[in-house]
This record gives sequence, C-alpha cells and structure tokens, in this order.
Amino acid sequence: PRVLVLFGGRSSEHAISCATAGAVLRAIDRERYDVLPIGITPRGRWVRVADDPDRWAIVDGRLPEVEDVPEQVLLPQEVGTRELQVIEPGSPAVDLGAVDVVLPLLHGPFGEDGTLQGMLELADVRYVGAGVLASAVGMDKHFMKVVLAGAGLPVGPFVTLRGDDYETDRDGVRAQIAALGLPLFVKPARAGSSIGITRVVDPADLPAAVAEAQRHDPKVVVEAGIVGREIECAVLGGRGGARPRASLPGEIVVTDAAHGFYDFEAKYLDEAAVQLSCPADLPDDVTARVRDVAVRTFEAVDGEGLGRVDVFVTPGGEVVVNEINTMPGFTPFSMYPRMWQESGLSYPDLLDELLQLALE
Ligand code: DAL
Ligand code: MG
Repeated sequence: PRVLVLFGGRSSEHAISCATAGAVLRAIDRERYDVLPIGITPRGRWVRVADDPDRWAIVDGRLPEVEDVPEQVLLPQEVGTRELQVIEPGSPAVDLGAVDVVLPLLHGPFGEDGTLQGMLELADVRYVGAGVLASAVGMDKHFMKVVLAGAGLPVGPFVTLRGDDYETDRDGVRAQIAALGLPLFVKPARAGSSIGITRVVDPADLPAAVAEAQRHDPKVVVEAGIVGREIECAVLGGRGGARPRASLPGEIVVTDAAHGFYDFEAKYLDEAAVQLSCPADLPDDVTARVRDVAVRTFEAVDGEGLGRVDVFVTPGGEVVVNEINTMPGFTPFSMYPRMWQESGLSYPDLLDELLQLALE
C-alpha cells in the first residue's frame, strides 16, 4: 500500500510533529509500504519533502521545521478519486498517483482537531486515527471534560473562560476560580505539548497566566491542580465500534523541580528533567482501573485507531482523567509507543497495526 506520511502543520506543535514523522520514516516497513512524505509548512502549504529520518529529528535542542518551497505546492484534489495532485503555479497539475492511506502525524489545531480529518473524509481518502468528532473533542479541553463528565468519567474541577470573561468577571468567574483552590493550571483550550500552560501558585499571577494562554487560544480552561501521580495509558483499536485495548500504564516523574510540571522543555528538550517509567509501579487493582478508565475515555469520545489517556492517580487510589490525545507523540521515546513496547508490541508492529486498521 501507498502511505502518505503527513506532518509539520500550522500548530505550535509543528516541530514535535516533525520529530514524530522522522521516527516513523525510520521505522516503517519499506518492503510492505510505499512511502510518500508530505510536509505542511507553518503557513499551511503542503510540500513534498525529504524522505530522510535524520532531517526531522530534534537534535541538541534544534527544532525541525518544514520549509516553504513555493514552486511546489500540493493541494488535495478531486473528491472521490483517492488521489492527490501537485499544483505547480503556471503549469498543469502533476499527478502524485493514488494514495491508499494517509498517516496524519499532526499534533494540535489543523491536524489533530478534526479539520484535516474532515478534509480527508470529503476527499474519500482513508486515514489513520480518530475521525472528525473524536479529534475535535480531544483537542478542546473544555468540551472534552463536558463529554467525559457526561459519560460518567471522573474529571477534575475547572472553569472555562471565553473572550473577556476574566477581565469583566462575567458570571462571577473569579469567585469560581478562587473556589478551585491552589495550585491552578491555566491552559489554552486547544493546544498541546504544554504550550501556553502556566502553573499558578499565587493568585496575583493569574491575570498574566490567562493572558499567556490567550496568546494561543481565545478560550482558556482553568483547572484545579490534582494531587496525585501522573499516569498515562495507551489505547489501540476501536475501528468500527470494536472494543479497543489498553496498554500497561506508564508514569511521568518530574525529577527536576525547576520545571514544576511536565512542561514543554521537560517533554522535549531537557532529558534529565523527567523520568518516564513503564510499566508504572502501581497496585494491580489500580492498574486495572487505569486501563478501564482509559478504554472508557477513548470510547466516550468515539476514539478510533489510537489515543493516549492521561490520568492522575490520587493518594487514595482514585483515577481522575486529565485528557485524551488522539494523536499522541510517536517517537520511540514517546510514552505511547513505549507503553506498547512494554506491553509486547514493538514500534514497527504498532505502526503496522495502525496502518492495517485504517486500511481494513
Ligand atoms: N500533544 C503531544 C504531542 C502529546 O500528547 O504527546
Ligand atoms: Mg497530557
């Protein structure tokens, strides 16, 4: 089958997407799959890019980026043909040939949020991962909580701020936020990789934290800090309503207190700042509960293909859902593939299974 590996994109997680793609280009079975790598520039243009894993890695803190090649812009064309064509300015369309499946390795808005998935649905092209609704719900931390709470899943207390709600104290949002206690996590509703997130321990820092989150999204979610261990669980499958399966859970331990939480630096740049331990050292009954909550979270949003569910396990052993990511980081060092590795599924086999699910 011919696989279009799509990455980069317009979101602030552009570089993380490139790193994920580099790892996939390295691991994909070339005997089995014909690979067509396409990068989306930060401006949103689609270009043919180097099929070179090293080009897309994060090395010594250097963040990779898809560069604009104006003379070679690609646009999806012709609904129903399962074909994508190159449009070169001033010249007729160049046919890239049929594509059997798109692997949208995109994180954040315009990739992981249902917009791209909707475009692929319109074009009648198969793709790996969550559909339109699950992607959109998974991207929006406000609606994600609404949906999960509606499904009876445990989510932490939060307040959503739109527009100038905070400045004008609409509906008494300031008192609602005060009631959440401290610390608080102030987050753009639709972003990822901890970008734009501030941990607030002093209420005086709240206005600046809200302003920082608003730089990324006019909608902001203020969450009560949950006391507990940060546990993650990988979910796989769920195509056509089949029951998905959950991996062994992993744990994030922030070892460098300077980061305060699992922030962008700790995630990608400062290897010493966190320890990812897998499988997480949890009592059997708690492990079972985490896996059950992960599957139910995945199903609550109509997940498909893959999803990483991040939870807190409180000192009392209670599981609280933090979020689901419908296109989690996917380098060999990322938690999603590592948790499958520990569960007996290697990185190349995991990739193969995801592609086969989409091709079914
Ligand atoms: N948003 C990042 C890529 C993750 O969830 O892993
Ligand atoms: Mg997370």
